[in-house]
Order: sequence, then C-alpha cells, then structure tokens
Amino acid sequence: MAEANITVIIKRNYEEVSAEAFRYMKEIVENKKDAILGLATGSTPIGLYKKMIEDHKNNGTSYKDIKTVNLDEYVGLGAESDQSYVYFMHDNLFDHIDINESNVNLPNGKAEDMDKECERYTALLNDMRQDVQLLGIGANGHIGFNEPGTPFDSTTNIVKLKEKTRMDNARFFDGGIDEVPTHAITMGIKNVMNAKSILLIANGENKADAIKAMLEGEVSEECPASILQTHPNVVVIIDDAAASKLTK
Ligand code: GLP
Repeated sequence: MAEANITVIIKRNYEEVSAEAFRYMKEIVENKKDAILGLATGSTPIGLYKKMIEDHKNNGTSYKDIKTVNLDEYVGLGAESDQSYVYFMHDNLFDHIDINESNVNLPNGKAEDMDKECERYTALLNDMRQDVQLLGIGANGHIGFNEPGTPFDSTTNIVKLKEKTRMDNARFFDGGIDEVPTHAITMGIKNVMNAKSILLIANGENKADAIKAMLEGEVSEECPASILQTHPNVVVIIDDAAASKLTK
C-alpha cells in the first residue's frame, strides 16, 4: 500500500501520463522562474518533453533562468554519440527551449578520471538541490542507473550495468546489445532522495512488477525505487498497464 506521502495517479495511457506530468512540471516552472529541475532520460519522459517544447513555442513559457541536473550517463559516451544521454537531452528538450546551456548539468561519461567526476557531480548536486527530480523506472526497479543492491546512502557512482538493463536499453543502439556500454555514471540514491519533490512516471505492462514492488513491497535495496516510500513528497503518474499488478 502506498504511503500517504506518495500520491499515485493512474491514467488510461501514455499520452495521458505525459499530459499529467506536464501539468506538474509547468506549475513548478511557472511558480519558480529559477527552479532546479532534475531530469531523466529513457523513452518514458519523451512525451512530457514534447509537451514542454510545445508549450514553450505556443505560450512562451520560459526556461531562461531554469537550471537542470540530469540523473546519469553512459561511461565512454559523450555529446558526439547519438546514444549518449547528453545528446538525448539536447535532441529531445534543450535545443528546443530557451534554456541557457551553462545552466545544464549532466555527469560527464568521458571524464579522464571517473572517480573525480563522481566527486565533482556530488558536490554540484549538494549545491543544487532539485525542486523536483523526474524519474522513470527500470523493469528491475532501478532509478537513474542505481541497480538492485545499490546502498540507499550512495552518492554519484560508477555502476556496472545488469544484463537486463543492457538488454532493455539495446533497442536504442543500432548494433544491439554489443554496443550498449557496460558501465554508467549515475546520481546516487541519496542525491535523488535529497530532491524537494519527486515525480516518477511509468507506462506499460513491462513496468508493472517494478511499480508493485516500489509501492507495495518492503523498502529494500533489492528494489531501489522502494526507498521513495520514505520520501516526504512523491507523485507517481502511471498508466493502467503499469498499475495492473497493484492490489490496493
Ligand atoms: C534507463 C535510465 C533510467 C530510465 C530507465 C527506463 O536505464 N537510466 O533513468 O528510467 O532506463 O527507461 P524507459 O523509460 O525507456 O523504459
């Protein structure tokens, strides 16, 4: 059973999930012109980002003073690779709104010293507490790239990706699974939990087990997303298919 601090909104389909998530985001951006948005990649947020772009074009909603921090990046990939998350964010959002490039932050997957990069990103996150952290969820309950077993007190870290996660993400790579990097750099769970509010979106039957474990299971490192049960302000927006295994 979801705790009182988690609001669960169930919609009929992906389009409605994206529209509801957009309403939530727009309120933050309108009420706080210099808000810090924690952003996410994956296919799930694309509909939300499309609506933010549309709204920027049609209604002039401005991102001039908005700052962003992204969850994660593949180790070894940078802006020149169309599979990198920095490329994804520009392609799906940043290049189409009036955000200031210097206000955009992602972990650098090509840093020479990855341990130093983890320290740099954690320090940056400590100075930039997210007004909202947007999350998708992996089919195994991962958030960012924090795989099952990640300690809840983790900060930015390098992760060896689970085969399941590499397989799930192989669809984005022309050459299939062999091209999917083996490691990623991700905001840690502690950095996610430091956000003032959390917006998690998911759709499709493939996510139903993870959603059930997150909302109705024990708080356990085996399901990284279950830690959200202990956060004071979480909104979960999912479609019927992702909600299909919930019992309450
Ligand atoms: C990747 C990302 C996650 C994302 C997950 C689900 O592993 N690192 O942040 O939530 O994929 O992706 P999708 O939305 O494509 O199902």
